[in-house]
This record gives sequence, C-alpha cells and structure tokens, in this order.
Amino acid sequence: MITAETYHVPVLLKESVDGLNIQPDGIYVDVTFGGGGHSKEILSRLGDKGHLYSFDQDADAENNIVADDKFTFVRSNFRYIENWMQYYGVEKIDGLLADLGVSSHHFDDETRGFSFRFDAPLDMRMNNRAGKTAADILNDYTEEQLADVLYLYGELKDSRRLARSIAKYRQNQRIETTQHLMDALNIQCSATNGLWKKDMAKFYQALRIEVNHEMDALREMLIGATNLLKEGGRLSVITYHSLEDRIVKNVMKTGNVEGKVNQDFFGRIQTPFKLVNNKVIVPAHEEEITNPRSRSAKLRIAEKI
Ligand SMILES: C[S@@+](CC[C@H](N)C(=O)[O-])C[C@H]1O[C@@H](n2cnc3c(N)ncnc32)[C@H](O)[C@@H]1O
Repeated sequence: MITAETYHVPVLLKESVDGLNIQPDGIYVDVTFGGGGHSKEILSRLGDKGHLYSFDQDADAENNIVADDKFTFVRSNFRYIENWMQYYGVEKIDGLLADLGVSSHHFDDETRGFSFRFDAPLDMRMNNRAGKTAADILNDYTEEQLADVLYLYGELKDSRRLARSIAKYRQNQRIETTQHLMDALNIQCSATNGLWKKDMAKFYQALRIEVNHEMDALREMLIGATNLLKEGGRLSVITYHSLEDRIVKNVMKTGNVEGKVNQDFFGRIQTPFKLVNNKVIVPAHEEEITNPRSRSAKLRIAEKI
C-alpha cells in the first residue's frame, strides 16, 4: 500500500523549512506538494491564522492531502501561481518553498514511464491528463529537434549520434516502450560496465524536462514568486540538476532568470533579493546514505528586500 511515507521521503526537510523563517500567522506556498512532507512541516509551524497553499499537477499527489483548515490544495501547474493567488484573494505571501522535479513515487510507479528500470510505455507526464508523452516526442520530433533536447536538457555530448539512432529505428517501427528505446540505442546500452546507465539517466532526464516543460514552468513560477513575496518574505528552493540550479541562482542574485545584473545610476546593483545562504546547502552525509535521492540536491534561500 502506498502511504505518504513510501510515496516520497522529503529531502533537506529541516533546512528548507527553517529557511522560510515561518511566521505563525503568515501565508505560505509549497509549489511541489508530492507526498506532503514539506507541507506538513510548514503546517506544524503555523498558528490558527496562518495558511498554506500547496500545488501539485499530478493527480496521485492528491492521495496525500491533509485535512486541516489552514491548508488549501491547488491541483495545477505552479507556473500559474499568480493567477491562483489572485483567485484566492491573496495579494502577498510570506514564503514559498519549491522542491523541484519528480517524486520517488514517479520513479517507482512502473506505469508512469519515468524509470528505465521497467519496460513500460514512455509517458513521463506529471500531469497525465494532457500534453505530449515522451513517446510522442521520440516519434514526432525531427532528428535535429531531438538532438537539441538531448544536448540542452540531458547535457549528452553525443546527442547527434543518439538522435540519429532514434530516427533510424523509427523508420521501421514506433518507439513506445523502454525496450523499444533500449533497442534503438543498442550500441550505447550494450556495455556491461554500467556506464550506459548514466547516459540513460541523462536521456530520461532530457525527455522528462521536455515533456513537462520544466524549465519554462520554473522560470514563470520564479517570476510569480518574486512578484508575490512581501518584503522580508523568503524563497527556499531545492534543485536536483545544474540547469534548474542556474535559473534559481540567477533569480536570487539578480531578480531575473537570465542572471543579467542591473545597476542604478550610481552603479549599485538592483536586485529584489538578498541571499540568506551565500554557499549552497547540500544534504548531510547521513541523509545521503539514508535517502540516495538526496545526493544531487542543492538548497538556495533568499529574502525579498
Ligand atoms: C520532489 S517532489 C516534492 C516532494 C515533496 N516536497 C515531499 O516532501 O513529498 C516534486 C513534486 O512536484 C510536482 N511538480 C513538479 N513540477 C510541477 C509543476 N510545474 N507544477 C505543479 N507540480 C509540479 C511533482 O508532481 C511532484 O509531486
């Protein structure tokens, strides 16, 4: 049976929630509810007048919803955060937490297609009610488009060669399952030294980011968060790969996703945030041992000024 505990073990729980500097009467947003680990910790620090809005676009996350008057679940992509806060009549928030990417549940549920451990249909949609699947992308994108996705989001150096293998294979049959993809990439996957697993993980990451428009959603959410946070409000974000981390770092340092430094007439840097931690926070050794998923996690915290 899936419980909130087996659904997902929260990463950097104390560090990320401490980073929000919770005010008991404050209004907080957890944009990545998942198993609800971070949300429950935030709720435990709120008083009767405080409120938490938690987003998740995945219907499965709704099984973890908590019954609490201080809690509202928003079944939506977090890129629409400003629209939703307006809908709920919230003008300003005291803090926002994001624990990006997918949950362990996504990797463990073989029907969702997020893991190459299972021979499953290549779906990979977090919101599986709409949008293109990974199979659609593999079959419908041009060879050049595929190579770009693999290079940009998987940082795969031999993206052109991989895209060529896909294009060649699909001349004869559609790529629908993990096994089809393994067959299409036969040369890369035949090695016994386990190196192909690293490349496959990057390949899957690239597809997942493209399927879910993860980078666009992140950029839009961070712009929304910057507008919504009140003075002294906190932004606490956990990332799992360098592409996400770069965007978060840019916004926290400069206020824009490109990392463009704006200066005033006197050369003073104009930014809406001050960094709470100058150095990125990573999990302690014990957490890395007990929760291997935490190994690539990086936490950044900033305060609105
Ligand atoms: C790493 S998990 C969060 C785990 C959670 N912090 C916990 O303690 O259980 C990320 C969750 O965010 C959701 N998610 C990712 N991107 C999203 C987006 N753009 N909009 C809404 N939900 C998103 C995923 O469906 C997943 O459930």
